Amino acid sequence: MIGYADIGDYSAVTFVPYDRPVRAAFVGLGRIYDLNVRGYIDNPDVEVVALVDPSEERRAQRQADWPDAATFASAAELAASGLEVDTAEVLLPVVLHADGVSELLDFGWHVNLQKPMCNSLPEAQRMLDAAKANDRILRVMDNYLFYEPLHRLRAVAESGDLGGVVGYHMKMVGTGNGGWDVPWSSFEWQIDQMKRGRGIMVFDDGWHKLTTAIWLFGPVREVRAWIGNLAVGPGIDLETPATLVWEHENGIRGVWDITIAMDMYLRSDYYTNDERWEITGSKGFARVNRCTGRGIQQPSLEVYADGEMRGYHALDDDWGSSFRDSGRYWLRWLHTGEGPLLWSGEEAVDVLRFALAAYESSAKGGIGVDPALLT
Ligand SMILES: NC(=O)c1ccc[n+]([C@@H]2O[C@H](COP(=O)([O-])OP(=O)(O)OC[C@H]3O[C@@H](n4cnc5c(N)ncnc54)[C@H](O)[C@@H]3O)[C@@H](O)[C@H]2O)c1
Repeated sequence: MIGYADIGDYSAVTFVPYDRPVRAAFVGLGRIYDLNVRGYIDNPDVEVVALVDPSEERRAQRQADWPDAATFASAAELAASGLEVDTAEVLLPVVLHADGVSELLDFGWHVNLQKPMCNSLPEAQRMLDAAKANDRILRVMDNYLFYEPLHRLRAVAESGDLGGVVGYHMKMVGTGNGGWDVPWSSFEWQIDQMKRGRGIMVFDDGWHKLTTAIWLFGPVREVRAWIGNLAVGPGIDLETPATLVWEHENGIRGVWDITIAMDMYLRSDYYTNDERWEITGSKGFARVNRCTGRGIQQPSLEVYADGEMRGYHALDDDWGSSFRDSGRYWLRWLHTGEGPLLWSGEEAVDVLRFALAAYESSAKGGIGVDPALLT
């Protein structure tokens, strides 16, 4: 596991850090549980005491991982049972985040929430208010911030080895073939999200890219976007092709292009998502060649400067490891209360604003939108 103490903002905490294993409940036991659970396995910082999901099948399946944990069909049943819980690992469909997270915070539990935080600014405020009122921590996890090649990319940009940063580019190609199975039930609520104008490309998966942008170069002052629509079935609309451009407060500009290659096979242990990040400096560049999938079979990070190319062959570039490290980081953090949360609820609101600014820009013909001015 790599160290992250050097990055991000620090959160002041008022709760007393734990000096024993924290008692955790998983709330939502669907597809992404398979990766989030990696932070909990063989981890002395935590004791998994409860598993919550209305699906009996899911409860029975996940009980095999945690034979001593109690199972419940709802978080309210768990709270009423009297079982002591310190923190919840929340893996719910996005539309349930605002109500679900507020309820869990009101039970007095800390929350580690899967992204996206929620669909709207009022929902986000409700969640932040609930955390404050209960003096509990709301973390909105983003495993990409724990993907070692991206962590190194950031370090290279900060080292000055590339000279001054003059711009950067992100690319994302969703492909139709390859990867792991995603059950229809995991996709159904995404279709509802599409109907709400919160699509899978820009909003759901895109959330990660917007988070990495803010994490790399800080606050964003202007966003311009041209978001297309690809209808791939009744009610199934993918926001492609899409191009988002933005400027950070420090003047650095980023651009992100999103496409779908429906007939392309992509080797992947997870979702079929071919991704790259490329930072250009005044005297060189650094590029992360892949993340979720295993598209480009070169070193996952390459750095060019002064006429020489350096390839990083020994990074932990299994995307699944980023879930393990994000979870471990959180569970350790609860024992120290020190260092950045990676990512706090407040920082997640900045990501939400970024996404909403892109939608507003696109709806208005690509005009520049300041995310801070959205209401
Ligand atoms: N970090 C990533 O790369 C990544 C990848 C995939 C999904 N996600 C996020 O993870 C979250 C879950 O996604 P998923 O793909 O696992 O969805 P999923 O549909 O596979 O799983 C959701 C689970 O929640 C359960 N559930 C529904 N209502 C509930 C309730 N009231 N209480 C408890 N459980 C309830 C469902 O029965 C289901 O088992 C979403 O926020 C999604 O955006 C993140």
